[in-house]
Amino acid sequence: MCGIVGYVGRRPAAPLIFEGLQHLEYRGYDSAGIGLIKADDTFELYRNVGRVAALLECFEPRQSDSHVGIGHTRWATHGAVSVLNAHPHRSYHGDFLLVHNGVIENFKTLKSFLLEKDYAFYSDTDTEILANLIEFYYQQQATTEPASFLQAVQEALRHVQGTYGLAVLCQDCPNHLLAARNGSPLLIGIGDNEHIVASDAAAIVTYTSQVIYLRDREIALMSSDDLQICTLQSENVSAEVCTIDWSPEEAERGQHEHYMHKEIYEQAQVIVNAIRGHISDDFSSPRFGGLAPLGNRWNEIDRIVFCACGSAWHACLEAEYLIEHYAHIPVEVEYASEFRYRNAPLSKRTLVVVVSQSGETLDTLAALAEAKRRGYPVVGITNVVGSTISRETDCGIYQHAGPEIGVASTKAFTSQLCILAMLAVYLGRLRHMDYTEGVSFIQALQELPQKIEETLLLEQQISEIAQRYYQSEQFLFLGRQTLFPVALEGALKLKEIAYVYAQGYPSAEMKHGPIALVSKECPTVIFATQAAIFPKTLSNIQEIRARNGPIIMVATGEIPMDPSESEAFVIIPKTHPALQPILATIPAQFFAYHMALRRGCDVDKPRNLAKSVTVE
Ligand code: F6R
Repeated sequence: MCGIVGYVGRRPAAPLIFEGLQHLEYRGYDSAGIGLIKADDTFELYRNVGRVAALLECFEPRQSDSHVGIGHTRWATHGAVSVLNAHPHRSYHGDFLLVHNGVIENFKTLKSFLLEKDYAFYSDTDTEILANLIEFYYQQQATTEPASFLQAVQEALRHVQGTYGLAVLCQDCPNHLLAARNGSPLLIGIGDNEHIVASDAAAIVTYTSQVIYLRDREIALMSSDDLQICTLQSENVSAEVCTIDWSPEEAERGQHEHYMHKEIYEQAQVIVNAIRGHISDDFSSPRFGGLAPLGNRWNEIDRIVFCACGSAWHACLEAEYLIEHYAHIPVEVEYASEFRYRNAPLSKRTLVVVVSQSGETLDTLAALAEAKRRGYPVVGITNVVGSTISRETDCGIYQHAGPEIGVASTKAFTSQLCILAMLAVYLGRLRHMDYTEGVSFIQALQELPQKIEETLLLEQQISEIAQRYYQSEQFLFLGRQTLFPVALEGALKLKEIAYVYAQGYPSAEMKHGPIALVSKECPTVIFATQAAIFPKTLSNIQEIRARNGPIIMVATGEIPMDPSESEAFVIIPKTHPALQPILATIPAQFFAYHMALRRGCDVDKPRNLAKSVTVE
């Protein structure tokens, strides 16, 4: 949510910041702005509503002579979408420019304090308050040196409750850029005589692969050739320099019209990446070097609690079915936002697992902090190396799915499904599952990328189905057992990107209420790949057909249903039951994508949404 870029160095700052913001646009895209320090040491400030490109209506990046600047692409929290509420914000006396990602929770108290000091405000944002608070403490300093700039920010932030990723410019220190973080991601790229601050690596990777991930309550003050990191209490920090493990091309769209389309097509490779290095030497079990710190505790664990949000929560629900089935360990799946405030009784032998593509979702981080506070071991599954989850958990597994830019999660979700199925079988093999069962799972795992390629060939057929139904305003998605999370995910995709109301249910639950919606105008997408329980699903299908509800079936070839009994019939390849949900998800992704295209929606930047939700 909200993207930040800051630059100080030898290059012209404006084009680099502008381009960086375009890479971060998926984090928020309702307004954007850039603030620069000109060669004459004065500020220039450009802001506009709409996408980053709309900034070009008010400035030409290549005409700026600045080598220091900050930029922001906004996802509104405090204050409507307007030029005045767009970042950067300028402090009342004009000494500071500031961009902010996060929420200042005690903004009212801070604003009252500043009003008493005769500060006035032009915007409705919490960010402007922070800019003024920094200015207030700066004006108490004895000098106008960079050290005073740093001390003023430290003092201001000591009074702030809430979350922030910040980049700040001070007019008296025209060769310096300051960054600070608490709860909102921020990293610093280290180049040749330059430093780049950004909310994520996508804005940096073109210039350098060497980065420092700022930690909570750390502040970095930098010039082109100097970088000093300390805490709010002025303790020096010696930060670790990490290498970004993906290339700039991976963050490009290539031949695809949308990132989402590209990412759907990357799923075979994503599964190859998820499997790599995770198969035991005798090919009978997954293995995870990243879980080694837990040692033999796996044998003692008698309950696993998963915490996640959105699609990652759906992936965890899948894990509940699989871990209980294969490893006989009771599992609970919590919305991270609920877990945090619940007093869920956990036993000494409970393991908490947090799952998050970005590794920065605030609700999930809060659940993680709560679990740690209560003394439970926490395992993290995340896609982003160096993310907060990767650093704060006791151990974990990386997805290695590459950057996911489309706001609607696709490849990260199927990668989570794959890793969680592997985790279920890994735990099963530690307990009840025999060698041959393990071998047959591993075989299926190795064949999965090929089966994904075959499933991707269904795009044209699914596009034609979308053509038939794109005017429908509501859908039901049904699935039993391991296909219930797929139904939830299919419904979520359709809501997010095509703005069509869709609800996922366990198939049989449909008759306990949702059947009231069934009509010619409300199609039902049914996932059915489990032959043994298909007769039950068939009953549900008959109930829907008796009420003229159109049926779109997603099934494997072995399902004994006459295709003429549904309005559309999509046949996916058959695989191991633990992996079948991965193949069943792909038609749902294509369906949402083609529905969105036909309804004229912006697939990669759906309204009201942003990737990486760093507010509560
Ligand atoms: C849905 C989607 C969201 C995310 C959710 C959690 O397409 O992308 O529901 O799954 O916001 O995000 P992460 O996995 O980054 O914690």
